[in-house]
Amino acid sequence: MDFINSDDLRKQFTVDGNDSMEIKLIRNPDDLHSDSCSFKPDMCHQIFVPDEQIFGYKGLKIKLYYTAGNLTTYVGMEYEERISAPGMEPDDVMKSLRKVILTPFETNFSEFERLLEADDTFRPHGELIHSCTVGDSNNPRTLEIYVNTTSDSAFLEYYKRAQTFVLLYIDAANYVNPDDGDWIFFLVYEKYRSVDMSVKYGLVGYASVYEYYAYPANIRPRMSQILVLPPFRRMGICVKLINAIYQYYVPNNRVVDITVESPSVEFQRVRDYVDCINCMTLDEFSSNKLRCGINQDMFTQAKNKFKINRKQILRVYEILRLYYTNLHNDKEYKAYLHELKERRLKPNKRVQTRKKKFMAFFGSDPEVIPPTLPEEEDSDSEEQALLESQLHNVLVEYEAVINRINKDGPPGINQK
Ligand SMILES: CC(C)(COP(=O)(O)OP(=O)(O)OC[C@H]1O[C@@H](n2cnc3c(N)ncnc32)[C@H](O)[C@@H]1OP(=O)(O)O)[C@@H](O)C(=O)NCCC(=O)NCCS
Repeated sequence: MDFINSDDLRKQFTVDGNDSMEIKLIRNPDDLHSDSCSFKPDMCHQIFVPDEQIFGYKGLKIKLYYTAGNLTTYVGMEYEERISAPGMEPDDVMKSLRKVILTPFETNFSEFERLLEADDTFRPHGELIHSCTVGDSNNPRTLEIYVNTTSDSAFLEYYKRAQTFVLLYIDAANYVNPDDGDWIFFLVYEKYRSVDMSVKYGLVGYASVYEYYAYPANIRPRMSQILVLPPFRRMGICVKLINAIYQYYVPNNRVVDITVESPSVEFQRVRDYVDCINCMTLDEFSSNKLRCGINQDMFTQAKNKFKINRKQILRVYEILRLYYTNLHNDKEYKAYLHELKERRLKPNKRVQTRKKKFMAFFGSDPEVIPPTLPEEEDSDSEEQALLESQLHNVLVEYEAVINRINKDGPPGINQK
């Protein structure tokens, strides 16, 4: 028998958690046996701690199947070989999954197959606030968006099942604790016809929003976990979801503005696109006004009409200003870049002014240590390089948003 050392054995019997998982949202019985509808997680470090690796198996397949509407869950596990060596225990995959799947799940495949039928009569929880279509005219897909609060215990039980996805697709996400306060949930479903032509609903994404208190009797809703499930991405569903959230909150006078908790780059890009398209319908964001620079009326109008917060309005201004800048006109483009640079240098200038004031007051006192300024830690050229690279990244993102505006047409066309 060949001698295999334990490191080699470890390598041979270690698999990647993301590769091993196979997720499905089952709409009809054929999906159970078809590979075409399965998809992978983006991450699983909160399940297979710490490095997403699973030890003890060769050819491991973890099946995480959900019925598309009810989200009744099946977990199955298959492998080609399991380690059997003295002192080497395989990881307990089911135990890791049980820690994160908060509701009971099925492990018997035939029983799960039988439970599929219950999905025929599934209807979404909550209040319907928006319906629309996505996709091209040959294959339109109907979406319905429902809003739910924490007062519905049946919904909360349902949401527990939907929550598992945040661990698989949002970095460092935690499950929402409904006892924490004022959460509101927006769920997007596709309304579709099954093979027997009956109407059914399948979950495609959701957002949870925390309504922060704002003095004296107002709220500042913060979008916290926004997710469109992989099979439904790149169809414009996130745009519909963000706009539905705006339409829900804008008429409410208690809402100061709407914010987003640590947006991912992908989400920020969609949000920028939505905010730009919306603001392009406002007088204050006409090309003539944008060319004259940012002004208070832009802040006021964007906040009143769409509840966009100040920082995001500034971003929208910069994107739309670039949109209307003639890139072939050197002078125009340089003026635009100069404005961007100045705005990013301003916080440093403010710190310098504070230091000057401080020195004027305490300068002659040897006991007082003057504050260290961030810019003193770097040399001028390092600072300049950092600024240039920040600007480069910002421009790449702005251009991506502008490309989408150009591709998807002017506001009004895709607004429903
Ligand atoms: C970020 C996220 C919510 C976006 O959802 P989405 O529904 O795919 O978003 P959209 O379809 O509106 O836009 C995404 C892209 O698809 C493109 N797209 C939209 N419709 C399209 C179509 N019909 N054909 C081709 N591309 C299309 C958009 O142009 C955009 O591309 P871009 O990023 O290059 O500009 C989704 O990717 C997701 O859930 N990611 C993981 C979780 C996450 O990061 N959440 C945010 C936490 S804050």
